[in-house]
Order: sequence, then structure tokens, then C-alpha cells
Amino acid sequence: FTILPNAAPTSAEDRAKLLENPGFGRVFTDHMVVVRYVEGKGWHDAEVKARGPLQIDPASAVLHYAQEIFEGMKAYRLGDGLALFRPEANAARFNLSARRMAMPDVPEDLFIEAVEQLVRIDRDWVPGGGGSLYLRPFMFANEVFLGVKPSSEYLFMVIASSVGAYFKGGKDSVTVWVSTDYTRAAPGGTGSAKCGGNYAASLLAQKQAIEQGCDQVVFLDAAERKWIEELGGMNVFFVMDDGSMVTPPLQGTILPGITRDSIIRLARDEGITVREEPYSYEQWKADARSGKLVETFACGTAAVVTAIGTVKGEDGEFTIGAGGTGQTTARLRDKLTGIQRGTVADPYGWVR
Ligand code: COI
Repeated sequence: FTILPNAAPTSAEDRAKLLENPGFGRVFTDHMVVVRYVEGKGWHDAEVKARGPLQIDPASAVLHYAQEIFEGMKAYRLGDGLALFRPEANAARFNLSARRMAMPDVPEDLFIEAVEQLVRIDRDWVPGGGGSLYLRPFMFANEVFLGVKPSSEYLFMVIASSVGAYFKGGKDSVTVWVSTDYTRAAPGGTGSAKCGGNYAASLLAQKQAIEQGCDQVVFLDAAERKWIEELGGMNVFFVMDDGSMVTPPLQGTILPGITRDSIIRLARDEGITVREEPYSYEQWKADARSGKLVETFACGTAAVVTAIGTVKGEDGEFTIGAGGTGQTTARLRDKLTGIQRGTVADPYGWVR
């Protein structure tokens, strides 16, 4: 890595102002990482430099065929240092996404070093309190060619954003809209890859959710429009009155969330039965009405763990439990965030 510090960094005063109430994804740090790939030459020219616009040829493949993948991860304040949470899991998932999109692997040590370099140089941008530094590693195709084929050139980059809560105002619970008009991913498609195209495909359904007064869309499976898959940008868990939990299984159409995986581990180690099995929208409704279902929560790096209070769809709406954050949701959230922030012991070696 060549380190080229920003010659005109944000002043400490301006930064403090930006960190007061950063929201999500609008406050960016002073630096970025750029690494180049050319077929035959591999990864080279790794740089940490001043964050700024890129020059891209208008015929760059990504602008036409969307050959792009990304990751989401966070750096937390931990004592007087900083911590990353399971960065090797992000590196591994990044390469699964890369393979699905016919892109080159980014070696795990390159991925992690890129992230660590950026966190180190921009460490003053990690907010205190409940905030964190959201890291966004991504890779895109930049060969100048309009033929439809895997690009022979790529950029791997990392940018960082100081963040607070993903949902405006850090809501206690959110309302979701179940889309019966649109689906997100079909069997054999790109649903388990973290590629920009999946999120582009989710936007119209997410827009409908907002129009319905909801915070997030819930997608059903593409084949039967029956089984709950995931939300626009997070996985989902159901908590039953016998204490057990259900979450949709990883069968190729949903994102294998690292938060999802961590929650399953934490819950099972508490003695909770977690079933990774299909759960239908009809069952969800029936179980919420009968009281068999007591909590539902969304989880992801950006959303952390957020209760789902109300569910709306074409055929009406229902409320889960008392509509707020239930006990199991709160306990698992506190355990996870405690591990990430060093206030709860980490027997898993997740914190780096
Ligand atoms: C994340 O949780 O990090 C995500 O990538 C979800 C969304 C913000 C795109």
C-alpha cells in the first residue's frame, strides 16, 4: 500500500460537527483505498489516498452490465482502540459474490489490510456512543468495452462513513410492507451474492413500502410467492412462544448475513432452538394472531437488530406482540453489540 495522506483533511471542528448526528451513509471520511486489477497482472497499485471522485470511461463495463459487488462492515470504538467484527467473514463472502459475478477473488489478506489501512488513517472518524464507522469495500468492472463478457479490469475500493442508526431517529421498531408484486431473486439467480443489481431490483418494491408508510419491504420467494425470504437490506428472524426461533434457510436466494450467522450462534449457545426453515407469510399472519409468534426482528450490519412491530400487505395488517422490541430481540441485540463494543466477553474470537 502506498499511503498518500489527504493534503486538506477536514478540520477537527468540522468533523466534530459532522459526527454529532451522522445518520446513515452521508458523512464520509477523508480517505479511500483503491487497488487495481488487470487480467494477467493481478492486483497491483494499492493506494490509500484522499477521498474524491473517480474518472471512469463512459464505456466502463460496470455502467452498462452492473458487474459490481460490495460488503458492509463496521469498526467500533473498543476501549482506547478500535475493533472490527468478523472481517474474515466479510472477506470470504466478498469472494463468494465475486465468483458468482465472474470477477476475480480479492485475497483475504489484501481485503483485510485494505480495510485496516483505511480505519487506521481515518480513526478519528469513528463516532463515540452508539455510533460506528461503516466500511464499504466494493469492486467493479472497468474495462472499456461494450461486449457482454467478464471484464478484464477491475477496481477494488474501500470507503468509510461515520454512522448512527440506519433507521431515521433510531426507532424502537419498524413497520414492513410485504410485496406481492415484486420478488428479489429467483433460484439460480444472484440472490446470495452481495451485488449492486440485487439492490437495484429491490428499489421499486422498497418505494412501494415507503408509499404504504412502511420502513422496509419484505420479499417473498419468486417461485411460489409464499415463503418469506428477507427484507430490502436485512435478514429476518421469528421468535415463537415456546422460545424457539425460525429464520429462512440459505438456499441461494437470500443473502448469507454475517449478523444472521452471529445471531444463530448466540441464540443456540443460549440453548435456544433455531430452525433454518421456510416460513410462510400465511403462517406468519396466523401465528401473530394466535399468539404463537411473539417477536420478529430484522438484522444486518447496517440495521444491527431491529424489531418489526407491524406488518402490512395488500390484504391488511397485523401487529406482533405489543408492537415494540421484545425480550429475546433485546437480549440478543445487547449481547451482539456488547461483543462488538467490548462490554461483553467474546468467546468466539469475532472481534479483531
Ligand atoms: C449492510 O447491512 O451492511 C448492508 O449492506 C445493507 C444495506 C445498507 C445495503
